[in-house]
Amino acid sequence: MRRSQFATRTGVIAATVGSAVGLGNIWRFPYETGMHGGGAFIIIYIACVLLVGIPVIVSEFAIGRGTHKNAKGAFASLAPDSPLRFVPYMGIFASMLILSFYSVVAGWILEYLYQSVACIFDSASSQAYADRFTGFITDSYRPAIWAVIFLSINFLVLRRGIEKGIERISNILMPLLFVILIVLCINSLTLPGAKQGLSFLFKPDFSAVSPSMVIGAMGQAFFSLSLGLTCLLTYASYFSDSTRLVRSASITAALDTLVALMAGVLIFPAVFTYGMEPQAGPTLVFVTLPEIFAQMPGGHIWSVLFFILLFFASITSTISMSEISISFFIEEHKMSRNRATGLNTLICMVFSIVCALSFGSLGNFTVCGLTIFNLFNYLSSNILLPLGGMAIAIFAGWVVNRRFLNSQILLPGESPTVASRCLIFCIRFVAPVAIAVIFISGLL
Ligand code: PHE
Repeated sequence: MRRSQFATRTGVIAATVGSAVGLGNIWRFPYETGMHGGGAFIIIYIACVLLVGIPVIVSEFAIGRGTHKNAKGAFASLAPDSPLRFVPYMGIFASMLILSFYSVVAGWILEYLYQSVACIFDSASSQAYADRFTGFITDSYRPAIWAVIFLSINFLVLRRGIEKGIERISNILMPLLFVILIVLCINSLTLPGAKQGLSFLFKPDFSAVSPSMVIGAMGQAFFSLSLGLTCLLTYASYFSDSTRLVRSASITAALDTLVALMAGVLIFPAVFTYGMEPQAGPTLVFVTLPEIFAQMPGGHIWSVLFFILLFFASITSTISMSEISISFFIEEHKMSRNRATGLNTLICMVFSIVCALSFGSLGNFTVCGLTIFNLFNYLSSNILLPLGGMAIAIFAGWVVNRRFLNSQILLPGESPTVASRCLIFCIRFVAPVAIAVIFISGLL
């Protein structure tokens, strides 16, 4: 049977940017920036994207597009005896962990979308917003039900396959996401606290730079760009041979960073206008923002739009995480697409129910002092993604032969340029060394 491919060039970009743009940009980036003091974090983040992010994206793209196979098949066909053969399995494992806690947060978004549509938000005290959020996430079944609903929607898209499922939904949702984001940003920029919000976001205070901030920026870059799991490798296996990899990688990184910055522009002016705390952390979107929406003229509509935005961003990311194991089940274990998608969904549903309940009834169940949700989050983002990214860059830069990498980076007949040489240098030296240094300093 002919292997599926994305049908158009726009489809390639929409799907890849859809994978990258997600809760990482709209939920995690603003709170990480807020907690690390604003502008300086953003500069370090952008340096991580340029020096490590783009080289690792290109490595994943080259391995995927060069073989047109799932990650396990790709590694096996390029270097069957390499000790890095474990990377695809680690990717499958990490993708299931991320999918499990990610769909819990996506479930919270569905609940908040429902509450916004039903006009349940009203002007109450700040404490009431915090209590409502805590009450909801510690509930004994509601968060689990929403996570299961979210994974079922994810299943319905994925079983339709690459072109009719993933490409079509990305082509529709990504432009809509940009439109909603622009409308929300314009609204935020008209608020009285806009200037203060923007200067918090863009004026760097270098005294805030610390090792933990650099680790945070690097972890954020990996999570946000969907790196280290072989997720982009899997998508690239559906690219055609004429797709320009470096250009697609640069567009993906640029749009992903743009969306993260826009999410900051959307959130911080409102935070300063209504006298809230920019350092609120993970509850920024679920506690601070609803309170802001309730005070804003037309807040009901802004709130509905905002949670639709978050829903679109999350579903296009979860389909990409799921495709890692689905392509593995289909190609390595000869399963039908329906079966493979069903199996992935079932496994993740079980894990995500446990994660969802780890704020309430399963809260006492901890490993190394972490609840299951936090354990999955920590293990995947801080350990498995950077390790996977480092292994992928080493595989592309050192294990696979040099001609292969050049043939993927350049078009047929093109000779190496200064830019392509710099890129290969970053893949071979800068990315693995930077990841190793940051990773080790994080463990100390
Ligand atoms: N990049 C996605 C986001 O920013 C999350 C993600 C991580 C998606 C890993 C796929 C793989 O939300």
